[in-house]
Amino acid sequence: MCGIVGYVGNRQGLNLALEALRRMEYRGYDSSGIAVAGSDGLNMVKRAGKLANLEDKIADVGQESLAGTTAIGHTRWATHGRPTDDNAHPHLAYDGKAAVVHNGIIENFAALREELERDGVELVSDTDTEVAAQLLAKAYNEGETAGNFRDSALTVLNRLEGAFTVLFLHEDHPGTVIAARRSTPLIVGVGDGEMFLGSDVAAFIEHTKQAVELGQDSVVVITADDYEILDFDGRPAEGRPFTIDWDLQAAEKGGFDSFMMKEIHEQPAAVRDTLAGHFADGRVFLDENNISETELKSFDQVFVVACGSAYHSGLLAKYAIEHWVRIPVQIEVASEFRYRDPVLDERTLVLAISQSGETADTLEAVRHAKTQGAKVLAVCNTNGSQIPRESDAVLYTHAGPEIGVASTKAFLAQVAANYIVGLALAQAKGTKFPDEIKEIWERLEEIPAQIEQVLETKDDIQSIADTLGAVQTMLFLGRNVGFPVALEGALKLKELAYIHAEGFPAGELKHGPIALIEEDLPVVVVVPSPRGVKLLHSKIVSNIQEIRARGARTIVIAEEGDTAVEPYANWLIRVPQTPSIMQPLLATVPLQFLAADIARACGNDDIDKPRNLAKSVTVE
Ligand code: F6R
Repeated sequence: MCGIVGYVGNRQGLNLALEALRRMEYRGYDSSGIAVAGSDGLNMVKRAGKLANLEDKIADVGQESLAGTTAIGHTRWATHGRPTDDNAHPHLAYDGKAAVVHNGIIENFAALREELERDGVELVSDTDTEVAAQLLAKAYNEGETAGNFRDSALTVLNRLEGAFTVLFLHEDHPGTVIAARRSTPLIVGVGDGEMFLGSDVAAFIEHTKQAVELGQDSVVVITADDYEILDFDGRPAEGRPFTIDWDLQAAEKGGFDSFMMKEIHEQPAAVRDTLAGHFADGRVFLDENNISETELKSFDQVFVVACGSAYHSGLLAKYAIEHWVRIPVQIEVASEFRYRDPVLDERTLVLAISQSGETADTLEAVRHAKTQGAKVLAVCNTNGSQIPRESDAVLYTHAGPEIGVASTKAFLAQVAANYIVGLALAQAKGTKFPDEIKEIWERLEEIPAQIEQVLETKDDIQSIADTLGAVQTMLFLGRNVGFPVALEGALKLKELAYIHAEGFPAGELKHGPIALIEEDLPVVVVVPSPRGVKLLHSKIVSNIQEIRARGARTIVIAEEGDTAVEPYANWLIRVPQTPSIMQPLLATVPLQFLAADIARACGNDDIDKPRNLAKSVTVE
């Protein structure tokens, strides 16, 4: 979390930085700031609250007071220190000549702070970041590295513990930004006579498609014409140049009133693009995968680790893999995984699912799994991010950048990718015949067009939300693969509408949650296909009757042609017929609309940025 930008070139750094922060605001939005170095020295502006507050402040102080073609900027998601003006980044050193922005956590900041205070430095914020700014000034002003920006920066970096990306700017070196990364993201954008730094490519995608990924513990020095990569000891190091295949359009709203709505509508493409290229000549390919067929064959258990929506997609991986491959699949919320000492060995495949590839809990779970000798396959949406880098292999989802904080298209793409993994395992282990795999694949390929059909339920869902108005609580029920859909529907509603919502397996209802049912309570029921396991369908029809009998209002999601549910649904939302295992790829979509519409009915218009959340959670 936190968005960082750096710029050196020939344009006004303030405008470049502001525009980049606007694109990265989804990474954190409780305060923001920019520092610019120019002929008037180093000047800074920062403000608590959304970026609009910073823009107001810039208007107050006047753009001319922030002139200069070298800049660093930051949009914050608070870890140390409340979101106040003082705690916003950049942080200035005591001499007013050095500025720092930072993403991550400096774990030894308390000891460093004490040391600085003992030396008479007065710290003005509650953040861990400020120590880096103060240390930089001390290193630059005193001792062996005095006057040498690069060596001073290296000295500071070697004193920091934890996970961090930091950018340093110094008044005496207006054409240079020095940056470093350890376990959090930083990408270099290579322009023509200008260089960029960003937490992700959204920071500079409008200006260049040429980028360089930095390795762990890398330092980069950018000037207008060049970039130089070093390690923390100042020795030359390598980066990985790549061409960005996302366009600017993909990072903007494309005519929708929110990124989330745009992303919901991009789901057919997200699933189609994720499937693309993974099936040819009757075989499933994991072509971005370095785990051999022999290794795939040898796995006797799968362990899925993920958080939030990614975890829900992982639950579906469990259903699919156990059904297709007949090996046990365990799933654990990533933050619990390593503390529980799970039983793993070299015959365990750990599937680490993460949209951002930066989630600290999932990353730590990956590291733990590797120490236990397991092989790790990441399912990830963000090229070059940390989780795939540390995994044995990666299967990228091709959902494109997801800007809305609540996951939508990345979730569906994860489900599709998980199914690719399941089929590849079934193929390697011979638990499905090639013609069976082909048939499943063909049905998967129909899903994008079927999602298009489900998108047409948007207006019906809007009218359900209008009728429901501002509800206080809502329940979501499902059985089998409908259960993760219920969980995901409830999570979306909590995130966006800030109301109490719970997802349950419908069979658990009578074991407690039925006590929550009262007159008019809205209950969503995800109904499995009657063409699948008949008993499952008839059981859930009974569950719907039970809750209706207690006064609940039912919103029923059922496939076309399922007439048995009609008498018990206050509202019926139809999804096209598909094999049961694939129904979640369709049934989730109306619940995304429902959450967004109820959020708006509750007065939360900014569905892209729900309160207290950040897009990538890079702290545990
Ligand atoms: C929910 C949501 C979160 C993420 C979770 C994991 O809408 O977006 O629950 O799914 O924080 O994030 P990634 O997938 O980036 O690891």
